[in-house]
Amino acid sequence: MFARIDKDTESRIVLGAIMSLQSLFVLGMQYGAKANSIPPVGGSVSNSMNSEINGVIVKWDASCTKKLKSEGNRIPAMNLLSEMKRKRSPQGAYDLLVSLGIWQADEDLGLLRSGFQLRFDDSEIQSAKEACSNMHDVDELLNIREDLSFQKVYTIDSASTTEIDDGLSVEKFTKDDGSNGKRFWIHIADGERWAPPGSRVFDIAKQRATSLYLPQGSIPMIPEILCTEKMSLNANAEKCSLSLGVELAPDGSVIDSSIRMTASTIKVSYRLTYDDVDEMLEDGIAYNEEWELGELFAAAKTRRDYRIRNGSAEAFVPTQIPQYSISTYTDDVSHDNVGIALNIQVSHNGGKNQSMVDCHDKSATMTYATPVSAASMLVTEMMILAGEAVGRWKMWERKQNSHGCSQDHLRHLLRIPFRTQPSPDYRSRMREKSIMEDLLNNDTGGGLCHAWYARRFFSPAEIREVPSPHSGLGIECYTQWSSPIRRFGDLQVHATIKRYLRRKRMMEMKLNGSTIPSNITFNDIGCDPELFATEATLPLLNMTDTDIDFTHGLASLKAARVVQRSSQTYWMLEFIRRIDRSKTFEAVILGCRNPSRKQYMIYIHELGLEWQYTSPVDNLTSGTRMVVKATNILPRNGQMTLVRVHF
Ligand SMILES: *[C@@H]1O[C@H](CO)[C@@H](O)[C@H](O)[C@H]1NC(C)=O
Ligand SMILES: *[C@@H]1O[C@H](CO)[C@@H](O)[C@H](O)[C@H]1NC(C)=O
Ligand SMILES: *[C@@H]1O[C@H](CO)[C@@H](O)[C@H](O)[C@H]1NC(C)=O
Ligand SMILES: *[C@@H]1O[C@H](CO)[C@@H](O)[C@H](O)[C@H]1NC(C)=O
Ligand SMILES: *[C@@H]1O[C@H](CO)[C@@H](O)[C@H](O)[C@H]1NC(C)=O
Ligand SMILES: *[C@@H]1O[C@H](CO)[C@@H](O)[C@H](O)[C@H]1NC(C)=O
Ligand SMILES: *[C@@H]1O[C@H](CO)[C@@H](O)[C@H](O)[C@H]1NC(C)=O
Repeated sequence: MFARIDKDTESRIVLGAIMSLQSLFVLGMQYGAKANSIPPVGGSVSNSMNSEINGVIVKWDASCTKKLKSEGNRIPAMNLLSEMKRKRSPQGAYDLLVSLGIWQADEDLGLLRSGFQLRFDDSEIQSAKEACSNMHDVDELLNIREDLSFQKVYTIDSASTTEIDDGLSVEKFTKDDGSNGKRFWIHIADGERWAPPGSRVFDIAKQRATSLYLPQGSIPMIPEILCTEKMSLNANAEKCSLSLGVELAPDGSVIDSSIRMTASTIKVSYRLTYDDVDEMLEDGIAYNEEWELGELFAAAKTRRDYRIRNGSAEAFVPTQIPQYSISTYTDDVSHDNVGIALNIQVSHNGGKNQSMVDCHDKSATMTYATPVSAASMLVTEMMILAGEAVGRWKMWERKQNSHGCSQDHLRHLLRIPFRTQPSPDYRSRMREKSIMEDLLNNDTGGGLCHAWYARRFFSPAEIREVPSPHSGLGIECYTQWSSPIRRFGDLQVHATIKRYLRRKRMMEMKLNGSTIPSNITFNDIGCDPELFATEATLPLLNMTDTDIDFTHGLASLKAARVVQRSSQTYWMLEFIRRIDRSKTFEAVILGCRNPSRKQYMIYIHELGLEWQYTSPVDNLTSGTRMVVKATNILPRNGQMTLVRVHF
């Protein structure tokens, strides 16, 4: 029998219940967390908790998470767990949520802890729909969107890719001197057309900063209707693109004066997979019917050689350590319907052609790793080329027209973020340098030991707005802008480039007395359109693109990498856990991590996995082959112990 309760009491009960559940979520999320892995952003609870209960709208924000994390506020969850006779611990909370069916046994707790938004809410999806029908194309208005739909454009991605952000083409033409010229075109999805600064979708992307790629699927930065449809360079439809055309010198260097950058309309002729292109390169089609692919591949090889000659990472580390990546799929045979697929890949092979399995290479490493695909090398080189060319274009524009006319200062108004990496610093590290060289010359561990040891000499890349070299890529400058659908930083680069092109056009129109369309906005050109009204008040650098911040989202990108890595590790350990426990693995010692604790890093070929091995003895040497077995596997805690098997 229930007594009638008044509205106030009801609200208190509802809020108490919500508080307990939220407290339970926060506690459960800590299961398996390392002591120092404090979540970077709030909002994780809101992923499961923003809702309306009995008319009480519960809005969750970062401060609530903070409150619940302090010891005192575990109390609601702890009380609930006691009442239910369950373990009063993060694991108890996790088990309860799983048994209630709210979480899955494989719930990605690292992802929840990170606070990344897991989905788009209704109003965000609505904004994306509205963006699709946005007719305001300022590039059309200013007559600077070039029609390149006559070009034969290819996109090359993996079969599962749904956000297609780059396409490639080759244009042949006759030069002024009568000789034949080739221009390589890199077309990048024109994300800014549908998500310009100031728009709701731009803010949605800004908040997320990046798409997340996880074993169980991806979480896009921009709602699907835009990222896989309107923006994506899908075949056989007219698509808006930002296109860069460039000619190469015979040695592979960029001819600065040849660079063309324009908003465009393109029509992708073929959507190809890496496998398709590898096949076409091998069976010759790429040199006949689809000669463009052959040309692109030849250019990619020239570029790779050019960068290697200039000391790129491919030259510095000739043998790469193949790395695993895991994806899951629905598998009816498995007890939990989750199948785990392991893929082991090398990111490059120093420019060697290993697109066909080399029968003479009997090393354990190449038995398991997929050889480098020619197609993926082609795409990689073209994207690096685009990244170098855009920086060179900025410098070239700056150099142009320095004859004192009023248009001149416009050339300063192009903002581009450069990704720079200093060269390895050997000062005071001569001993380490000579160890590294020995490892290379002795081919210790088939080159893997050198690759592992060399990492200590790589500095992290930094973002700067002045052109600075990238030593890992072996080029004078490098800007990321090829994934505006997946990286907010790239979307911002599109905005600054396109605004620059628009301001330049408006300047031209002003100088020759044409009428500038009146419905151009600040968001279109990154400064007050009134500034173009009189010559005396032209925009200055500090008055343009004040809404663009290239450092925005760097912390989220870092957090994304942590989440992606921890998910990968979880699933790798789960993969090993499911293997027969007596299974042994061939491994090689990459190097010693801590001599006094006898900690070594070893590499397991069959898994593409680097893992720590604590040895009973301290005299192991790099390159030693051994056989190991995995024990004590705790995927949730990221733990696994390797023991050496003695014969
Ligand atoms: C802007 O003005 C031009 C004419 O100057 C017009 O053609 C166009 O439709 C207008 N509207 C938008 C949304 O750009
Ligand atoms: C790679 O080398 C093999 C011969 O070793 C050759 O047949 C093949 O065409 C080459 N592949 C490419 C894409 O150049
Ligand atoms: C490499 O070989 C040289 C000479 O054979 C030897 O002295 C040196 O210890 C070896 N270094 C390593 C790191 O294996
Ligand atoms: C070669 O790479 C270095 C950085 O390691 C860079 O400073 C230099 O400009 C590059 N040279 C060319 C020609 O790209
Ligand atoms: C003025 O410049 C614009 C942009 O370059 C061009 O489209 C237009 O035809 C020019 N008009 C005259 C009168 O020269
Ligand atoms: C922008 O820079 C100019 C000259 O460098 C300076 O005179 C002006 O005050 C600056 N404006 C702002 C808003 O900082
Ligand atoms: C390493 O040390 C152990 C005893 O501590 C010894 O049995 C073994 O032979 C040594 N191995 C090498 C390669 O020196």
